Amino acid sequence: MQLNKKSKIFIAGHNGMVGSSVLRHFKRKGYQNLFCKSRKSLNLIDQKKTYSYLKKIKPDFVIIAAAKVGGIFINKEEKAKFIYENIMIQTNLIHSSFLTGVKKLIFLGSSCIYPKYSKQPIKEKYLMTGKLEETNDAYAVAKLAGYKMCEAYNKQYKTNYICLMPTNLYGPNDNYNSKSSHFFPALIKKTHFAIKNEYKMIKIWGDGTPKRELMYVDDLADACEFFLKKKTKHYLINIGSGQEKTILEYCKFIIKKLRVNLKIKLDKKKPNGTPRKKLDLSLAKKYGWKSKYSLNKGFDLTYDDYLKKIS
Ligand SMILES: NC(=O)c1ccc[n+]([C@@H]2O[C@H](COP(=O)([O-])OP(=O)(O)OC[C@H]3O[C@@H](n4cnc5c(N)ncnc54)[C@H](OP(=O)(O)O)[C@@H]3O)[C@@H](O)[C@H]2O)c1
Repeated sequence: MQLNKKSKIFIAGHNGMVGSSVLRHFKRKGYQNLFCKSRKSLNLIDQKKTYSYLKKIKPDFVIIAAAKVGGIFINKEEKAKFIYENIMIQTNLIHSSFLTGVKKLIFLGSSCIYPKYSKQPIKEKYLMTGKLEETNDAYAVAKLAGYKMCEAYNKQYKTNYICLMPTNLYGPNDNYNSKSSHFFPALIKKTHFAIKNEYKMIKIWGDGTPKRELMYVDDLADACEFFLKKKTKHYLINIGSGQEKTILEYCKFIIKKLRVNLKIKLDKKKPNGTPRKKLDLSLAKKYGWKSKYSLNKGFDLTYDDYLKKIS
């Protein structure tokens, strides 16, 4: 079955940064049968309830944007929750999708599940070829299980489940919680806070050298629609922007954008995380997909949303 404007699509995790972007995108494109459930009314850790819901709505397509997600601090602190919740959510959704005859499913991995010292740029085939980054190994193992589950179902049951591997994301509805946020929203918040309090300096985690590729979240939403429509031979596809900077350069970029004069202090006692994770995007390009947003434009939209949220 081809994706069309009447297709029934279940977007799991529609209140999160990715899920809300996917929902906005599909609404804007005129899809008429979108299904969403907040965690309060459907906890996806509950196998029975997840299955009953999918059985009731019988979606044609499922996009899994529900997960326990976070930055380096919370990944280290809550490894048990990261492995348990992610395995439960994705297993319940993937298996229930199979039982209820879902035509196509998108599972989201992440560039941080590739080996810590992977060759660069990272090709899809480098997955599971080396040691993981210690700070997020529990999250990575859960995501790898999700990928393997999609692969196994595709092989044994001839399903059409694809795993998109997005790079680091940012955008409206990001998480700015100081314990659980990713590096980019954390930098936005720190800089904004410094301006508001007339500080002269901000402190950033690590030595500033790790390189990160960053993509505006609406590009991922666009990729979800593109790959739901596209017939692909591959079921593991990297999704990124190709735009890469060091953490220190991102910090300077934000300071410049907000037209402020701030010194940057490096907190070298804090972990750096993976040194570099630049995705090889040739496969996505071969299928005809590429990102559209520049960092400049994406930042403006993100910062506007941040200002609205805190006002
Ligand atoms: N953020 C990134 O930089 C990034 C990069 C690469 C890949 N990804 C992938 O993109 C996906 C979404 O990430 P995100 O950044 O959008 O995360 P997010 O903002 O934290 O959103 C996650 C969503 O999942 C929901 N959720 C969590 N546990 C649930 C449960 N037990 N039952 C029902 N819903 C539950 C949350 O609901 P509540 O709102 O109720 O908590 C939230 O809406 C994840 O698979 C992640 O691995 C993200």
